[in-house]
Amino acid sequence: MKRMISLLCAVLLIAALTGCSCGEAPTPNDKKIVVGFSQLGNESDWRAANTTSMINALCEENGYELIFDNAMQKQENQLAAIRNFILQGVDIIVLAPVSETGWDNVLTEAKAANIPVIIVDREVAVEDSSLYLSGVGSDFYAEGKIAVGWLEKKLAETSRKKVNILHIKGSEGATAQIMRTKALEEAAAEHSGWNIKAQLWGEYTEAKGYEVVRDQLKIDKDIDVIYSENDNMTFGAMRALDEAGLTYGKDGDIIIISFDAVHQALEYCYEGKIDLCVECNPLHGPRVDEIIKKYLSGVEIPKQTYVEETYFTQKTLTPGIIGLREY
Ligand code: AHR
Repeated sequence: MKRMISLLCAVLLIAALTGCSCGEAPTPNDKKIVVGFSQLGNESDWRAANTTSMINALCEENGYELIFDNAMQKQENQLAAIRNFILQGVDIIVLAPVSETGWDNVLTEAKAANIPVIIVDREVAVEDSSLYLSGVGSDFYAEGKIAVGWLEKKLAETSRKKVNILHIKGSEGATAQIMRTKALEEAAAEHSGWNIKAQLWGEYTEAKGYEVVRDQLKIDKDIDVIYSENDNMTFGAMRALDEAGLTYGKDGDIIIISFDAVHQALEYCYEGKIDLCVECNPLHGPRVDEIIKKYLSGVEIPKQTYVEETYFTQKTLTPGIIGLREY
């Protein structure tokens, strides 16, 4: 409580002196809100945009001192980073968890040290939800439902009843992977003609996406749909398809569905190379900033907030939309 009151004073002082907007010069002796941010990695364009958004929002001018740690997609690195933040006595911990499970102990330690934890992007599966303050991220299941709903309509339009689906998964146990996979597997169970031919682990990276699809195509080229759980893996898969002499997109044989809708993917979609881009918004920095400021001002905050998201096809895209894309 003492920590909260002194931080609240700092926030009010910063707000009074600077109007609280990033970019304005802070008063030198303002007490900063010290945030330890454990970012899970740097595996994708999405992640790079997320990191930038967080760093920009949790900036000095906005009243923060940010301690940033990149865990390189390894949970043990995140556990070590959080324990370090606790030792350093940070005011708030922000965690972008690589996977859902395995957080109970470390979050109990943070709670015992009276440090509130905010979960960003993916989610944690903990026994006791009081171990974290609030979560903000995407509804990955809703994203998956958008994708399978679109595919259902697309196949109905072309009267295709039987399709072989190549499923490229992200990294095992991540909410984005679990939920996008769940949506596809449920839809495949409901459609007798949807045959998930292979499920490959692409780790959300372009290199791995390329490698696993290249190897799979050596065994089997009979594919109608690629359901790829992020854009970077899609880019890798497209390279593997090119090398194998397979065509895709609007004028090709294979339908490509991709998640994230980063700038490059929208370009490809506009060119007719990717059929569907399901949006996953990485710009969580201002959202986390808002949660922190509300918490410190004693305003009630929701336990979980999902960001509104959409999807893009060649028909719905314009150069204007692509040009305005921030990531
Ligand atoms: O958790 C969000 C996912 O993680 C994005 O889809 C992916 O690109 C990122 O690496």
